[in-house]
Amino acid sequence: MNPKIEQLRQFKKQAHLGGGEDKLAARKAKGKLSARERIELLLDKGSFREVDALVVHRETNFGMDQKKVPGDSVVTGWGTIDSRLVYVFSQDFTVFGGSLSGVHAEKICKIMDMAMRNGAPVVGINDSGGARIQEGVVSLAGYADVFLRNTLASGVVPQISVIMGPCAGGAVYSPALTDFIFMVKGSSHMFITGPDVVKAVTGEDVTFEQLGGAMTHNAVSGVAHMASESEEDCLFLIRELLGYLPSNNMEDAPYKAGGDDNLRAAEALNDIVPDNPNKPYDIRDVVNLIVDDGRFYEIQEHYAQNIVVGFARLGGFSVGIVANQPMVLAGVLDIAASEKAARFVRFCDCFNIPLIVFEDVPGFLPGLDQEHGGIIRHGAKLLYAFCEATVPKLTVITRKAYGGAYCVMNSKHIRADFNVAWPTAEIAVMGPEGAVNIIYRRELGEAEQPEAKRAELVNEYRDHLANPYIAAQRGYIDDVIEPSETRPRLINALHMLQNKRDHNPPKKHGNMPL
Ligand code: HXC
Repeated sequence: MNPKIEQLRQFKKQAHLGGGEDKLAARKAKGKLSARERIELLLDKGSFREVDALVVHRETNFGMDQKKVPGDSVVTGWGTIDSRLVYVFSQDFTVFGGSLSGVHAEKICKIMDMAMRNGAPVVGINDSGGARIQEGVVSLAGYADVFLRNTLASGVVPQISVIMGPCAGGAVYSPALTDFIFMVKGSSHMFITGPDVVKAVTGEDVTFEQLGGAMTHNAVSGVAHMASESEEDCLFLIRELLGYLPSNNMEDAPYKAGGDDNLRAAEALNDIVPDNPNKPYDIRDVVNLIVDDGRFYEIQEHYAQNIVVGFARLGGFSVGIVANQPMVLAGVLDIAASEKAARFVRFCDCFNIPLIVFEDVPGFLPGLDQEHGGIIRHGAKLLYAFCEATVPKLTVITRKAYGGAYCVMNSKHIRADFNVAWPTAEIAVMGPEGAVNIIYRRELGEAEQPEAKRAELVNEYRDHLANPYIAAQRGYIDDVIEPSETRPRLINALHMLQNKRDHNPPKKHGNMPL
């Protein structure tokens, strides 16, 4: 064998072994995949092409010159998912705890620059002890280089972060700048400061899981978007998500016709909204009955459950769904729901994904907590997001469309393209009970039988104001439709809007109420 080829093979073998066979075996024993196994599972079989496998760190102090590992603590390159180009980095915990050295950051920046230039998504798999302590400010500089690229790539190519181990300190800000964060239950943790520092500063006793586990960030903080049972499930879900997204902001999302009939009527929808306007129903049942093959890919399902967001296909087109959820808090808009939905709307708008809104909203949530928490500012984020969006925008009002929430939830007035209501819709300034109490206060006070009078006035209000026909007479909605025909009508509208052109005035950027 040519000794030069033998030497190259040795280098490559070392790179493949990362921190060594013992450390790889120890991780396997803990049920964790290696950095390379994760990439293999994520990408189409055999498609991964590695770059910078021969890069080594440059630190010479602390005996580091004796501890060089080819590739250092991150594996980087590109491959395909469903035959579409994707760039990927995967931090290798077996090499200095996956900590970020100067060259580790350079490797990530290289593939991010390539992704931007060539218009393809970046998936970053995080499993790291944070800044490489031995490298000091060089490591911090590396983080800042990555943060800048995350920001510049935002809205240009989809960026997905996967947390499969620790992600601590300032390191959390790279995932935080990306579009979606996936976590694995029981094994991934994100926090600014760990339990020891929390104990020292605030006196609180918390576990890693309570502080920054997958469910903490999926259900409580809203930092993360998906929680998986296993690393394998998590990687599978990322492959599925990318199927709904274009590779970059200049492309349309991939069209994929399934087996579902575009003209399929869903008769069950005609009876789905209960007669009693205060009785809940699950808006996800509505979505599932309408979208292709009943497949709805929900995002942030555990957070702000009073609003439901996610991706689906309609007639083969990828669409973003935003739906009030009457099952939780009657579908009211609060701070968390407004922020969750606003971020999703802006993602879809960045990447040319049409928005479909299912509306059943009694208004914004009243209360001291909400007002002091800034519901005015946070609610305005959702309003801003819908106003600013120029993708095809469709709205179906299933029941309540009350007050400011009527305007916010993709109304005609803020440039929605196709607005329809079901006959069960109630479009008004407020619900009948509240309205009657205000406008008939004196009459109710003087009535001999106030309850009977109230019921009579509520019915009168509902007949005259809380219905879809006044909005339809004014053209604020385009039609009142039978619920069963919603799917064909939406698909028809998506075809009609295929060449939609709409622009915002030229500006550096807007000043959304952050
Ligand atoms: C260098 C590190 C390291 C680091 C871990 N290692 N973290 N080396 N820099 N930051 C090394 C360890 O020395 C060890 O090397 C190997 O990785 C595995 O670490 P263990 O501690 O044995 O593993 P484990 O018990 O699983 O604990 C993992 C851990 C812990 C929770 C991540 O290592 C830890 O707390 N590390 C420090 C975390 C931290 O405070 N980082 C700085 C955050 S601030 P050997 O040779 O023994 O295998 C930050 C600022 C970023 O990141 C700012 C951006 C703006």
